[in-house]
Amino acid sequence: MKKRILVIGSGGREHALAWKLAQSPQVEKIFTAPGNAGTAGVGENVAVSAADIPALVDFAKSNRIDFTVVGPDDALADGVVDAFLAAGLKIFGPCAAAARLESSKAFAKDFMKRHGIPTAGYREFTDPAAAKDYCRSAKYPLVVKADGLALGKGVVIAADFVEAERAIAACMEERAFGDAGSRIVVEEFLEGVECSIHALVDGNSYLLFPDCRDHKKIHDGDRGPNTGGMGTVCPSGSVDDALCARIEREILQPFLAGLEKDGLHFRGMLFPGLMLTADGPKVLEFNCRWGDPETQSLVRRLDSDLLSLLEATADGTLPSQKPVWKEGAAICVVLASGGYPGPVEKGKPIGGIAETSAMEGVVVFHAGTKESNGQILTNGGRVLGVTATGETPAAARTLAYAACARISFDGLQKRGDIGAPK
Ligand code: AMP
Ligand code: GLY
Repeated sequence: MKKRILVIGSGGREHALAWKLAQSPQVEKIFTAPGNAGTAGVGENVAVSAADIPALVDFAKSNRIDFTVVGPDDALADGVVDAFLAAGLKIFGPCAAAARLESSKAFAKDFMKRHGIPTAGYREFTDPAAAKDYCRSAKYPLVVKADGLALGKGVVIAADFVEAERAIAACMEERAFGDAGSRIVVEEFLEGVECSIHALVDGNSYLLFPDCRDHKKIHDGDRGPNTGGMGTVCPSGSVDDALCARIEREILQPFLAGLEKDGLHFRGMLFPGLMLTADGPKVLEFNCRWGDPETQSLVRRLDSDLLSLLEATADGTLPSQKPVWKEGAAICVVLASGGYPGPVEKGKPIGGIAETSAMEGVVVFHAGTKESNGQILTNGGRVLGVTATGETPAAARTLAYAACARISFDGLQKRGDIGAPK
């Protein structure tokens, strides 16, 4: 029997997952809640918010959904997986207790410290005066992080005490991130290049995906404020076989052993953000979900059936899976609205998507888009992810930028150096 799949979320990541799942010979239909104009073209959008867990459970029950795939971190942290499992529904993602590895930085740091996983040295504070005292005599730069989920905006790299003090005040006194900032982590600044690792984890084993690099800053040359991610390249070009073995030995294997020791049940995608330092790879953060826009590049290289991989992860049978990856590289260039990562104006008509999507080797994933009277309009900060594959990162990059040049909307911002060698 063919399967009915529900994807939860509305970003580029969810369009990429829905697009890849739709290619599975096992799939009858894909629903996305709430989705975007891109997911509407892959299946059916459902007008249920990713935050409304009871309504998602009801939808899955009454529409005979066989398997659900969760995109966003906050749905995981709020227990969407626990609720589905309690209702006897199959779902991909970690339960809330394990998703705390992403939703609490202090919890993740403590986990890493206890299980010997390399990460930046840190202190944790719940009292702003104690945090300021510590920062007064600390070495700079240093990094101030809100403990909880803050849409990627809860991290400040402070050049001096004045900046650290301002970050502590914003987080803990002005409560810029609400409860997410009532506890903070202050950590050592790490130097190096960043790299995104993805590994499916089925509780007992992991399956490592190719490495990627995200480009988090809004402007070329890694300048300007942090964003959710302005583009990715897969592979990153920074991880050779020896480093890959080290990442498995020093990060993934202790991670699995730590889960077991702590009695944490983790089934889903583990996405550690790493800094590749002169002393080796160190974990900046654990994400307990697919990266956005890493997913857009990863699915373009995956040659195997994604549904089989995700079901094996949920079933605890991951060692049965041997995914095949296309040779070469994939690139995703994000097209963002004017003003992003600050407030943006929505509702701008987008031109050129159909022509661009017709280009050989190019797939355009939607993020913040919606359809209105047959016209696709911008509907968020990150609007589209233009992906291209090629035999080399350079070939993929040339094709991706040729594709981007055909798309237009008022205020469009993109980086010109996604996938350029580091
Ligand atoms: P996070 O959400 O913890 O991954 O932090 C967001 C971004 O801040 C990372 O992608 C890094 O660019 C930067 N960052 C976080 N922690 C550190 C650190 N300890 N040293 C240097 N940069 C950091
Ligand atoms: N691309 C970074 C993230 O998804 O957190």
